Amino acid sequence: MRLALNVDHIATLRNARGENQPDPITVALIAEQAGVDGVVVHLREDRRHINERDLRLLRELITTKLDLEMAPVDEIIKIACDVGPELATLVPEKRQELTTEGGINVIDNINLLRETIKTLQNSEIEVSLFIEPDIDQIDAAAEISADFIEIHTGVFANALSEEEQFDELERIRIASKHAKKLGLGVNAGHGLNYQNIKIFRELTDIDEVSIGHAIIARAVVVGIKEAVQEMIRLIKS
Ligand code: PXP
Repeated sequence: MRLALNVDHIATLRNARGENQPDPITVALIAEQAGVDGVVVHLREDRRHINERDLRLLRELITTKLDLEMAPVDEIIKIACDVGPELATLVPEKRQELTTEGGINVIDNINLLRETIKTLQNSEIEVSLFIEPDIDQIDAAAEISADFIEIHTGVFANALSEEEQFDELERIRIASKHAKKLGLGVNAGHGLNYQNIKIFRELTDIDEVSIGHAIIARAVVVGIKEAVQEMIRLIKS
């Protein structure tokens, strides 16, 4: 299982003062030295954290892999094709949400997503769809030639009992196996942290986890290098 670090929260903190510290690019570069396999940013339509300059600087400077989370809208698709991340992860976006609240509905948006995937792939960008661990959604993702899915792990992370957590883990296990059989790469993310990763890492069909909040929050206490390495030890030991 690989680890990709989402640095959006560094930009949120920077923007709180409208100045230039802390810098998400510096943090991404230190995280790479500490061993992350990729860097994730979400360029939102409202630019509440990461901006276009951050994205372009990251593209120039990081040496691992850039995963751009984005809504399937014209303005951002154009920027993605121009910047050229290795991976674009398509997510639903709502103006009022605090963070992405769930997966994109592939079945209900199949034509829009098919076109968006084609456009991005024509620019040599692989495309991932952030979806619920649902067999019909995965079938639809394969049908429109997505390269990856990213399974939404929010329900697993927010489970209120061990039983609920176990049930959702099983749902993710079945979904990830199914996606693999269809030839899709399988990423996962949302709400993964230093506790729940100990169970989650048992899933053998997940290629990569995308983690933001837990690692950035830990970094405030122990520094980004240590926070990343603690997570890597849990994932890979
Ligand atoms: N994956 C996706 C698609 C997301 O939208 C987010 C949140 O930005 C994450 C992963 C990371 O979630 P968290 O910050 O809870 O680790």
